[in-house]
Amino acid sequence: MTAPIELTVYPDECDAFGHLNQASYLALFERARWELLARGPGMDVFTKAGVWPAVRRATVEYFAGAWPGDVLRFELEVAHRGRTSFTLRQRATRARDDQLVATLECLFVCIDASERPVPVPDAVVAAIGGPVRRVALATGAHLAVEERGRGEVPLLFVHGYPFDHTIWRAQLDAIDGHRLVAPDLRGFGASDPPSDGTTIATYADDLVALLDALDVREAVVCGLSMGGYVALDLARRHRERLRGLVLIDTRAEADSAEGRAGRDAAIATARTAGADAIAEAMGAKLFADGVDAAARDGVLAMMRRAPVAGIVAALGAMRDRADASALLPTLGDLPTLVMTGTEDRLVPPDAARRLAAAIPGAELIEVEGAGHLPPVERPATTTEALRHFLARVV
Ligand code: MLT
Repeated sequence: MTAPIELTVYPDECDAFGHLNQASYLALFERARWELLARGPGMDVFTKAGVWPAVRRATVEYFAGAWPGDVLRFELEVAHRGRTSFTLRQRATRARDDQLVATLECLFVCIDASERPVPVPDAVVAAIGGPVRRVALATGAHLAVEERGRGEVPLLFVHGYPFDHTIWRAQLDAIDGHRLVAPDLRGFGASDPPSDGTTIATYADDLVALLDALDVREAVVCGLSMGGYVALDLARRHRERLRGLVLIDTRAEADSAEGRAGRDAAIATARTAGADAIAEAMGAKLFADGVDAAARDGVLAMMRRAPVAGIVAALGAMRDRADASALLPTLGDLPTLVMTGTEDRLVPPDAARRLAAAIPGAELIEVEGAGHLPPVERPATTTEALRHFLARVV
């Protein structure tokens, strides 16, 4: 969060009912953003970098009223930073009683003079801040990484498809006393676009290169769904880099013929109808009934932001992945925690039960009331399980 900007409500911003009109909020949120730029890097930070931030989507929510003379306090945080886009989240509270009045979530795409999306310039990245940095790998690619805490053996979070590292937001905010490393896989978030012919091994090799770049010899690897496929590939080919393994809502088996056909259909959908269509189709099956609406909406927004190239590359990688079942009995010396949402409809709990039964000594935790995404749907339970596991293996 930035330091608050205070703005006074003027009578001409209010409507016939006497209160700040809903349409005026957008203008006030914008004025607060300009104030921030004016006090920080300068209002010309975008034009100097040769880009313009075009608003792609703006969502305002209203919670209470404001009247002429009310002072509103505006705070801003970076909710996401992608390669060519970023999302700002703003809150307005009434100064006199600290009442939250409205929030705005605004997705910006950086465009050039011909209105083509271009990477968010470094000067702008520095200006909008955020805890994410791009790490250069020996391969020449860059991965965006959010890091927290300190420690010799970090917990390396590997997100699923089609998400980014912010799927681990609750855990990043809550686990202290350990070093946490949460990258965006190539093709997602603020990492480089995918390479041609991406495979699950490509993602795994990127992560080994990331550990090298961060000077980390061993990590506890925690993979969610597709991230679990990557984690199993790391366990197969880079066992010496793993201190422990956490597999969440994932499976060892390869896709069936029907599953592979489904991947091809999804690739066609992504190419013709974009990330929105993928988010809509997958969103319908992701969550347990009764999921918190804000958590659900955050994940859907994350999926809609996913670059089509990243979606297509990941679908191809998952379609062509090898069966890892034969690896499992060989992992007896690797402390392993398997977790599953009891209401996961995408990777049903039986897959996790099979994983845990096949890995000697593996612990299984079934998270009641969670669907495919326990870290988001049951954040406290997931965080607690990870804390215990880390205490045991690090
Ligand atoms: C994921 O969440 O990563 C995907 O659901 C995995 C898959 O489709 O196999």
